[in-house]
Amino acid sequence: MTRLLPAPDGLSPDDLACVLEALRAGEPVALPTETVYGLAAPALNPAACQRIFSLKNRPLSDPLICHLPDAAWLEKMTDLPPGSRFLVQKLTAAFWPGPLTLVLPRSGLVPDIVTAGQPTVALRQSAHPVFRQIIGAFGEPLAAPSANRFGRISPTQAAHVIAELSPALGMVVDGGPCRHGLESTIVGIRGEVLEILRPGPILTQDLESFGPVRQKSPVAEIAEAPSQQDSSIVPGGLASHYAPATCLQIHLCGETPAASPELGVLAWKELPPGPWGAVEILTPSGTLEEAASGFYAALRRLDESGVLRIVAELPPAGGLGDVLRERLSKAAAAHRLDSREETQPVP
Ligand code: TXA
Ligand code: MG
Repeated sequence: MTRLLPAPDGLSPDDLACVLEALRAGEPVALPTETVYGLAAPALNPAACQRIFSLKNRPLSDPLICHLPDAAWLEKMTDLPPGSRFLVQKLTAAFWPGPLTLVLPRSGLVPDIVTAGQPTVALRQSAHPVFRQIIGAFGEPLAAPSANRFGRISPTQAAHVIAELSPALGMVVDGGPCRHGLESTIVGIRGEVLEILRPGPILTQDLESFGPVRQKSPVAEIAEAPSQQDSSIVPGGLASHYAPATCLQIHLCGETPAASPELGVLAWKELPPGPWGAVEILTPSGTLEEAASGFYAALRRLDESGVLRIVAELPPAGGLGDVLRERLSKAAAAHRLDSREETQPVP
């Protein structure tokens, strides 16, 4: 059985002691962050990190993000070339704690299992008060990928973590729904260039004053080329990512297929005329922040509703809309590749 520890305003002293004891014993614990829930274990303990991979059924070739108790740990975990020190300092001063992950040359302290043997390590500092309470008391970095089974929808509520990982997982700390609802922006640094490896809540325009920004993820092409369905839009060669089990197809607003009780619809602002088997409206008020924070929860409800297919309306382009478009495209990619014959035009 998975234990649920409530932490509306932080953990009680007794529950905090339980979490620290589990972490010190190398047991992964699911924790809230401001982006999505993470499955945390001591980053400097290879056996504990191994437990994360097993619980998530994640291939050992996919490296883990490390969460730092404070920015001082950056020095210990990295081996920064003198040329990028100033840029890294400016970025961490501006965005930490917060939803920015930096991929940087690793130090010898970081276990190989964390980085999947790569010469870089992904680092972030969460702003969630409960995460900060726990990592502050633990005093060392925690490796924490999203607390879902590999390739599936990221959890933004404690109940989602239970649905994904119970009963094998021992504990979930319930800090309520995650504020951003989308995973952190991942940025690599090449000389003076900031390379966005995964778009997220810190947007391209937020980064532009720090140097030239290059987008590695093919967001624009996915969003703007409705007829393009080749496998080049699948990031990292993975067939599926952030994916519901139910087939998902994306349509331009106003171009959703005829309603049917077999279909679930993920609508943007207004519900297309029914009857639908299940409906979710991402943002009745039309704000991107509202849509992002409820996005994975809505996708998960549709996935669990028993419909045969989910049709999703394409969010508006720009800012967080591009991030949502990228996540939707990844979620739909597996089904596009599995069943090309049946596929409708997919943006
Ligand atoms: O918001 C987030 O980043 C959440 C919360 C829990 O912190 N974490 C998260 O972790 O999304 P995860 O493991 O689900 O996604 C991290 C991504 C993976 O795709 C992994 O391949 C990539 O980061 N990654 C990790 N280390 C890397 C590295 N050294 N170089 C390039 N990519 C890396
Ligand atoms: Mg993940």
